[in-house]
Amino acid sequence: MAESFDFTPLLPAGLPPAAARWAGRAKYDFTGGNNDPDSLPLDGLMAATEAVMKREGRTLATYGLASGPQGYRPLREFLAGKLKADAGIACTADDILITSGSLQGLDLVNATLLERGDTVIIEEDCYQGTITRLIRRGVTPVGIPLDRDGMRMDALAAALAELKRNGVRPKYLYTIPTVQNPTGTILPVERRRELLRLAAEYGVPVFEDDCYCDLIWSGQRPPAIYSMSDRANVIHIGSFSKSIAPALRVGYIVAPWSVMSRILPMKTDAGSGALEQMVLGEYCNGNFSKHVPMLRKSLRAKLVTLMESLKEHFGDAAQFDDPKGGIFLWVKLPDGVDALKLYHPALAAGVVINPGPEWSVNKAHAHSRMRLCFASLSHEEISHGIAALAEVCRKQFGVPADR
Ligand SMILES: Cc1ncc(COP(=O)(O)O)c(C=O)c1O
Repeated sequence: MAESFDFTPLLPAGLPPAAARWAGRAKYDFTGGNNDPDSLPLDGLMAATEAVMKREGRTLATYGLASGPQGYRPLREFLAGKLKADAGIACTADDILITSGSLQGLDLVNATLLERGDTVIIEEDCYQGTITRLIRRGVTPVGIPLDRDGMRMDALAAALAELKRNGVRPKYLYTIPTVQNPTGTILPVERRRELLRLAAEYGVPVFEDDCYCDLIWSGQRPPAIYSMSDRANVIHIGSFSKSIAPALRVGYIVAPWSVMSRILPMKTDAGSGALEQMVLGEYCNGNFSKHVPMLRKSLRAKLVTLMESLKEHFGDAAQFDDPKGGIFLWVKLPDGVDALKLYHPALAAGVVINPGPEWSVNKAHAHSRMRLCFASLSHEEISHGIAALAEVCRKQFGVPADR
């Protein structure tokens, strides 16, 4: 056989570590942000696909359909209406850019604003995808501790003052204020006001990541931070991943034109996938508001199963707050448990968890914490998976104690 070509000497410095080949999903997969397969509105999506293809399918022959570089216009119009009704955001379709998932939104905003050596502010426990993106860009994330109401404003004020004393002006203040990942907290409206006051005082723009906003059990969300600012200093991103399906890869950015006009030239992919935008545009008009309450009900029931399973198999060793929405539970185990060291033996037993230190910039604080996504498993899988995890944890760390 011919000798294989060695690409290694050609690789530029600073690439991420090589990927491992995908080995399939584990039996009990509590990781990632996957959704509930049984709640997927499949019939509605199929009907929408047929309708929109029959009516407008030939526009697929044109890059960007007939809608220009910001994405399928009927979907942006749906979003403008939804954002106004739910989040209080007064924007038009022209203020919205459809992206390939909100991850592309994160990449575009970062590519537009950040350079190596910058500092940004984030919540201390934070979405891993945000943390790794910042680290890869050589940007320092300063973590602000959270309590049961999300980011602590006293800690934010202190961090901003300290950074200013050191001559550092953060490039942005990133927050997941509405069902925070991983803590599940919701930032109350007074804190949103205080955050905006501090942002204005220190001249720092706000980057609001709102992808879980549809998944609050009560259906009542606080106004978006974007909607509360009169300074055009907030960038807002959202997604259909959590409300409809993550594999569609459809998200969006809402931003004032001053920054949108700088973001647009960074989106060099000639448009996000058009079929999924067309299907969502067709489906969401008239169906979104009926679908989401059903999804929430199913997710809430799975969360209850997860909390009951943890109580049954871990007893008091697993501490958590009952989140007001979302798809995750952020669980504290006793200090002796090293969540990173729990990962591999749990995997060997068919259970995958997200170890806390990967979801925090405060590794000591997250040492014995883990994030469990409950959306994509069945009730039975949740309880069997937690039983298996408890068994592994007992073997490794003596926690929970033998009963
Ligand atoms: C806080 C947060 N932002 C962004 C994303 C990315 O989502 P997507 O690219 O699927 O819209 C996720 C996914 O889990 C998330 O938790």
